[in-house]
Amino acid sequence: MNSYDSERMSDLMIAAGHESVLTPEEANVVVLNTCSIRDKADEKVFSDLGRLKMIKEKSSGDFFIVVAGCMAQLRSRDIIRRAPYADAVLGPQNIQRIAEIIDDFVKNKELDTIVSTSFDVDDKFRKLSDKFSTRGVSEFLTIQEGCDNFCTYCVVPNTRGREFSRSVADIVKEAKNLVSLGVKEITLLGQNVNSYAGENAEGEKCNLAGLLFELAGVDGLRRLRYVTSNPKDVNKSIAEAHRDINILMPFLHLPVQSGSDAILRKMNRKYTRSEYVECVCMLREYCPRIAFSSDFIVGFPGETDADFDQTLKLAGEINYAQAYSFKYSPRPGTAAARMGDQIPENVKSERLAILQDLLNDQQSQFNQKFIDRRVSVLLVKEGKHENQLGGRSEYSQAVSVCIDDGEFAVGDIVDVRITEIASHSLIGIIEK
Ligand code: 5AD
Ligand code: SF4
Repeated sequence: MNSYDSERMSDLMIAAGHESVLTPEEANVVVLNTCSIRDKADEKVFSDLGRLKMIKEKSSGDFFIVVAGCMAQLRSRDIIRRAPYADAVLGPQNIQRIAEIIDDFVKNKELDTIVSTSFDVDDKFRKLSDKFSTRGVSEFLTIQEGCDNFCTYCVVPNTRGREFSRSVADIVKEAKNLVSLGVKEITLLGQNVNSYAGENAEGEKCNLAGLLFELAGVDGLRRLRYVTSNPKDVNKSIAEAHRDINILMPFLHLPVQSGSDAILRKMNRKYTRSEYVECVCMLREYCPRIAFSSDFIVGFPGETDADFDQTLKLAGEINYAQAYSFKYSPRPGTAAARMGDQIPENVKSERLAILQDLLNDQQSQFNQKFIDRRVSVLLVKEGKHENQLGGRSEYSQAVSVCIDDGEFAVGDIVDVRITEIASHSLIGIIEK
């Protein structure tokens, strides 16, 4: 979502007459779009700000520093204290103000740091520019923002605010706009896409499945994905969409976080281990070739060896194509940060290593199954070597494709015979 927000800020700046450059040294405005999901991302911002301070001191002309995103929302006071040379601090629902704020600075160089951290997501989407600068062939599109779930470890409800769904018309218009720029694959974004409830043309609420069916009708759109789903909100209508929409990719990110019912309860995830398994089975029944990815948190407060064992067993039972796993990181203002029985760092590290070994094995086994298979690949970028292009399979696997000169180009969808499996990618040749 930060990547989407960054592109939209860039669109607004370009619409206001700015242009993009490659390095901060060449720039007059630098925007750091920050993340707060775990501690590491948060601290990195202050070291980046230190580097920008040096560039600002050396620069002869204008040099404005803007800190945007979730960390800006949460820690605006710390930013002003530790980096008083930052010119503006913009929360994620205030990024639409970027061009206007820079304009104010150009007109009045003595302005104090501007802090804008209100929650008006409707205003954000109304004011984002309709003019898109060039895009790649695979792009994000935010359909829903904010979260009402309050998982006890998660800072997002505090940074992006309550749930808001954009209207169907707004989303379809943006999708068509992207397709007209050459986009072939769209990934719909939301903290909780499965609780999407935007208005349709009749003024009624439309669910995610309804939206997917609408978007399936957009001419020229070849692939559709969506993240992130909360298992508690996945229902039959989504399974039907996976069965019936051929541009909907058979790959679903369905974060489980933990395999222990006790920990899921403490996390306030509102589903049990067996409900999660049932959800996966239902989706597999409707769409037998579907594969799953997940997020896991290890070392949540109170997690015992037995709880962790349940997580390992669940991963074994589901057999993921791919997964992300993290050590629990206490976040300010969240319920879990105040819980007793925080887990020591060394235990978290040990558990993470064990889980990651298992998940890496599962990913390799999943990839191994593709040797000699014919797969559909969207070519997304130039390859590392001549006569090679980089693509993505339907399961989002990176695929290096060997081609003859000028035969195919980025944006094409091609059939590829997989000849080799590298550590994190597949290698293949075009099959005509
Ligand atoms: N600590 C560790 N991981 C977290 N995530 C969210 N909050 C935390 C936290 N406090 C992970 C979850 C989520 C993913 C985006 O980040 O697994 O699904
Ligand atoms: Fe955070 Fe839970 Fe909402 Fe996801 S569903 S954004 S983990 S509170």
